[in-house]
Amino acid sequence: ELYSYEDQNKEKESFVSQLPKTKGWLGSNSTLCLYQNFWCPPTIVPNIISFQNHFQALDQDIIIASKPKSGTTWLKALLFSIVNRANTTLANTPLLSSNPHELVPFFEFNLYTRNQKNPPLIKNISSPRLFSTHIPYDSLPKSITKSQCRIIYICRNPLDTIISHWHFANQADDSDHLDHCSSKWTLEEFVDAYCNGEEVYGPFWSHILGYWKQSVENPQKVMFFKYEELKKDTKTQVKRLAEFVGFPFSLEEEALGIVDEILKLCSLKNLKELDVNKHGKFMPYFENKSYFRKGEVGDWINHLNSATVERVEKLVHKKLNSSGLIL
Ligand code: A3P
Repeated sequence: ELYSYEDQNKEKESFVSQLPKTKGWLGSNSTLCLYQNFWCPPTIVPNIISFQNHFQALDQDIIIASKPKSGTTWLKALLFSIVNRANTTLANTPLLSSNPHELVPFFEFNLYTRNQKNPPLIKNISSPRLFSTHIPYDSLPKSITKSQCRIIYICRNPLDTIISHWHFANQADDSDHLDHCSSKWTLEEFVDAYCNGEEVYGPFWSHILGYWKQSVENPQKVMFFKYEELKKDTKTQVKRLAEFVGFPFSLEEEALGIVDEILKLCSLKNLKELDVNKHGKFMPYFENKSYFRKGEVGDWINHLNSATVERVEKLVHKKLNSSGLIL
């Protein structure tokens, strides 16, 4: 042990204090800092560094990657149900008593906290281990990119993501000592920050393109999902997901209605009404209920004027079009 915990913390704090800063969205005094070309809350940077330095991926690991508000919670519930369907019945699945984020933890929020090198929680997870992250592909630890472990990325139409994120940001919980009232963002401010790329884990175009490129070049490693496709044909997409992670549904299972049962279990309507998701709190700053809102495609039409829509669409066109990805 070369450095003590305190020394390592000090070193990380001074490193973080020197990073470029912009306005954050958790409380009026909060900031985001630019680490490895993406913006994130300064308190998360030490966690990300621990994760990058210490995580040892196993080939069987499955990792969900996303930008916030793209459908992460839903995908976690589906993946957990697919992978654990042999061990649990739908009547006693842990999803009935735990929020999906508890069952598929984030490396940077839930595991590599407080400078831990070997978070005890990781040791207790049985294989295949399910994890998640919001950090861009290029910042993933080499042990993830070099191993055979699989990555599932979910993205969502930027207009809907903005609206979803804006609602979410304005719901941060007072009990975590946030200056809640004055932290409210107007939608205009939020759109501005988003279009400037100065939003959590943004710029969104780099985040999406980083994983998109890998899914094209390395399709057995990275599978790309769109929230809209998942909504439109959930069953087909869920079967595609199950095959990708090595847990395909047999014809017999399909005939028994197992896929349909999983879809029902993981539906917004069902998850939202569970006691744990109505009243519980697992993630820092946010109550479980904040992760379940409307779950609709095209809700932006109720919030954005045509000039804003045009601005975002032009930007998306400019940044993504040459990649072949249509959002
Ligand atoms: P809206 O705010 O548009 O309703 P994330 O999980 O990445 O934080 O994304 C949250 C978004 O996914 C929210 O979108 C939320 O309502 C939606 N969502 C959560 N659970 C869902 C589910 N089971 N089915 C469909 N959408 C879901």
